[in-house]
Amino acid sequence: MRKAVIFDLDGTLTQSEEGIWASVKYAAEKLGFPEPDAPTLRKFIGPPLGYSFREYLGMDDATADKAVETYRERYNVVGLFENRVFPGVRRLMRTLKREGWYIGIATGKPQKTSERVVAHFGLDKFVDKLCGPTAGHQADKVALIQSALPADWDYQNDEAWMVGDRKFDVEGAIGAGVKSIGVGYGYGSEEELRTAGCTHYCATVEEMIDFLCPGVTPPEGAFLSMEGLDGSGKGTQIRLLTDALDRFGFELVLSREPGGCPISEKLRDIILDKNNAEMDDITEALLYAASRAQHVREVIRPAIKAGKVMFSDRFVDSSVAYQGGGRQLGVQKILDINAPAVDGTMPMATIYLDVDHETSLKRRAAATELDRLELAGDSFHARVEAGYRELIRRTPERFIVVDATRTPEEIGKEVAEKVLARLMEAE
Ligand code: TMP
Repeated sequence: MRKAVIFDLDGTLTQSEEGIWASVKYAAEKLGFPEPDAPTLRKFIGPPLGYSFREYLGMDDATADKAVETYRERYNVVGLFENRVFPGVRRLMRTLKREGWYIGIATGKPQKTSERVVAHFGLDKFVDKLCGPTAGHQADKVALIQSALPADWDYQNDEAWMVGDRKFDVEGAIGAGVKSIGVGYGYGSEEELRTAGCTHYCATVEEMIDFLCPGVTPPEGAFLSMEGLDGSGKGTQIRLLTDALDRFGFELVLSREPGGCPISEKLRDIILDKNNAEMDDITEALLYAASRAQHVREVIRPAIKAGKVMFSDRFVDSSVAYQGGGRQLGVQKILDINAPAVDGTMPMATIYLDVDHETSLKRRAAATELDRLELAGDSFHARVEAGYRELIRRTPERFIVVDATRTPEEIGKEVAEKVLARLMEAE
C-alpha cells in the first residue's frame, strides 16, 4: 500500500494573507470599489479569485475578470513573497518524506505562481507533484487532487489524504475519492470543515504530525550560533534573523551564552558581576565552560533532537576569543577546558559579525552601562578580535563572516540569505 498526502497551499502550508489582502485591496481600489473590510478579506483565501470578487465584492463577471488581472499585476511581483510557512509545516513535510510518503500539492493558485512560492521557501524538494490551474485551463479541485496523485493511483487500496483549511478542499477530496483532513489553523472554521464532511480534523500542525506519523521521532534540527565583539550589533541582527527564519517556517529556539537556562543564568550573574573584580582568569574560563555544559544538555541538544533550529547568541568560539585571546590563556587550553562541556555538539554554521575592535569600542562607549568584560581595556578587545580571526582561519567552512559596518538592514539581508541557504541545504 502506498501513502500519499495532497496539501492545499494557502492557509494549509503557507499563511498567505499579507500578500493576498494587499493585492485584493489594490485591485478594489484600482477598479473604484470601496476598501474591503477584514471579514470580507478573510473570505478571499481558498476559493477561486474570480468567485470571491463576484460573491464578496458584488462584481459582475466582466469586472471580476478585470479585478483578477489587476490583482495579479501586484501579486505576481511582490504579493506572493509577502507570505509565511506555518510553524511545524517544514518538520511535517520532512517527517513525511523520511517515512516514505508521497507528497503532492493541489491548489487553486495558478500553477506557475504556486511553483514560485514553493521554491522560494525551499519546500519544492519535499513535493513530488504540484498541480494548480494553468493558463486557459481552470481545473476544479477534484481534477487538481486527482492529477496531483501518481497516474496509477489505486483509489481502493492505496491510502491518500487531502489536507486543507476550507470546505473546497474537503468537497474536492470527496469528489476525488480520497480521505480528508480539515485543518483549524488556516482560514476556515472547524464548523465549515466538519459540515463539509472532513474525515478527520486537526486543530494544529502538531496534531497532524501525531495523526499521520504517530510515535515517529522527528528528523534532527540544526544548531546555529552568532558571534562578534561587544558592540558588533548582535542584538539587532538576532532579531532580524529570527524574523526571517520564522517566515520560512523554521522553528527557532533562541538562547544565549553565558546563560540560556536557570543554572547557567545564575553563573552568568557571577561571571559578569562588576564586583567580582578579583576573579581569576582560569575561574572565569571554567565558569563559562560550566555554564555551557548545562546549556548544551538542558537546552541545545533537546532542541536539535526535537527538530528545531537552535540559535545561540554566542557559544564556545566566544571562550576561545575572549579567554583564549583576550585573557591570553591560549586557544588550546580553552578548547581543552571546553571539551567535556561541548562534547561534540557544535554549530553547523556560525555567523560572525565583522567589525574591528576600534569600531566596536566606539559603539560600546555610546552604551549606557558596561559589564565586567566590556570594561576590559582596548588591547583586550584587540586580542579578542585576533582570537576570532584565528578561529575563522582554522574552520572557514563553519563561519559566515559578514561585514557588520553597514546598515542593519543590509547586514540582515545578507545574514538571512546565507543562513537560509545553509539550513535548506541541510534539510
Ligand atoms: P553578551 O554581552 O553578548 O551577552 O556576552 C557577555 C559577555 O561575555 C561578552 O563580553 C562576551 C563574554 N563572553 C566570554 O568572555 N566568554 C564566553 O565564553 C562567552 C559566551 C561570553
